[in-house]
Amino acid sequence: MARAKIALIGAGMIGGTLAHIAAREELGDVILFDIAEGTPQGKALDIVEATAVFGSDVTLKGANDYADIAGADVCIVTAGVPRKPGMSRDDLIGINLKVMKAVGEGIKAHAPNAFVICITNPLDAMVWALQKFSGLPKEKVVGMAGVLDSARFAWFLAEKTGVSIKDINAWTLGGHGDDMVPMVRHSTIGGLPLPDAVKQGFMTQAELDAIVERTRKGGGEIVALLKTGSAFYAPAESAIAMARSYLKDQKRVLPIAAWLSGEYGVSDMYVGVPALIGANGVEKIIQFDTNDDEKAMFKTSVDSVKGLIKACQDIDGSLA
Ligand code: APR
Repeated sequence: MARAKIALIGAGMIGGTLAHIAAREELGDVILFDIAEGTPQGKALDIVEATAVFGSDVTLKGANDYADIAGADVCIVTAGVPRKPGMSRDDLIGINLKVMKAVGEGIKAHAPNAFVICITNPLDAMVWALQKFSGLPKEKVVGMAGVLDSARFAWFLAEKTGVSIKDINAWTLGGHGDDMVPMVRHSTIGGLPLPDAVKQGFMTQAELDAIVERTRKGGGEIVALLKTGSAFYAPAESAIAMARSYLKDQKRVLPIAAWLSGEYGVSDMYVGVPALIGANGVEKIIQFDTNDDEKAMFKTSVDSVKGLIKACQDIDGSLA
């Protein structure tokens, strides 16, 4: 069987990390695409030379021409600008919307059968715009945010409780902003829902509340530390988990920005929900039962995303 072809659109911090992980895992041959000349070629050459050390039979190539992504099975999009300290993800919308237009058109022309994973922020609005600009089927275009936010939530829980990260299953839903919805009742430590874990003394309610707040602001915490850009290791790992589930038909249930058609009371937009990813893309949306508090938080988050979509439509009339 031919190797999978993975096109990474954007060869910056996340793009380079994606290429490195994909090569180490022998997930497929990698095309690193960027508008910057030299960067994708340099990173591709650096990593392909490393395959001689870790022994992976894959090729890597840097590109500045969309023709090189032809026939890609997966496209992971990080093209655009990341935030700097003091910026919110929403501040990136003007620049990154234009980038999504160029990327969407490139994918439409050269890789229309790909499974597309968007990482560019503000995520829920950018994946929506990317689907519109590319015209690809909605079940084949998704956004990466929930895997990352849930990973942060899980690690904070592991750090606080001393329980192995392997036995923690954390979920965040909603948009990828500070009003995302960490799902306390649905997240578990060794199978125990978090409220029960509090009752059994793994942590206090105040500690759990602080972890929920830290999760919401997890991206900003890294931006403040790095000063020159945003997180890239955990975002890249998160997108690879999604790509792997598609390429290997693993049918993993992961929190992703998926197109909704009435699930969770939301239609015609992307927002973070648990979804099953297999060889057909998004094969099922999983619906958690939600109480009134969770519904209210979800609605606040969805309303923020709607505001961002409206802002996109105001900038680019073709999206209205
Ligand atoms: N087409 C292709 N690549 C582009 C374009 C474009 N139109 N515009 C910018 N790029 C490239 C830049 O040249 C750069 O190499 O996108 C890359 C972005 O890389 P970084 O600046 O290192 O950003 P990164 O940390 O990888 O984050 C990318 O993901 O998490 C989000 O908020 C983050 O939106 C940002 C994106």
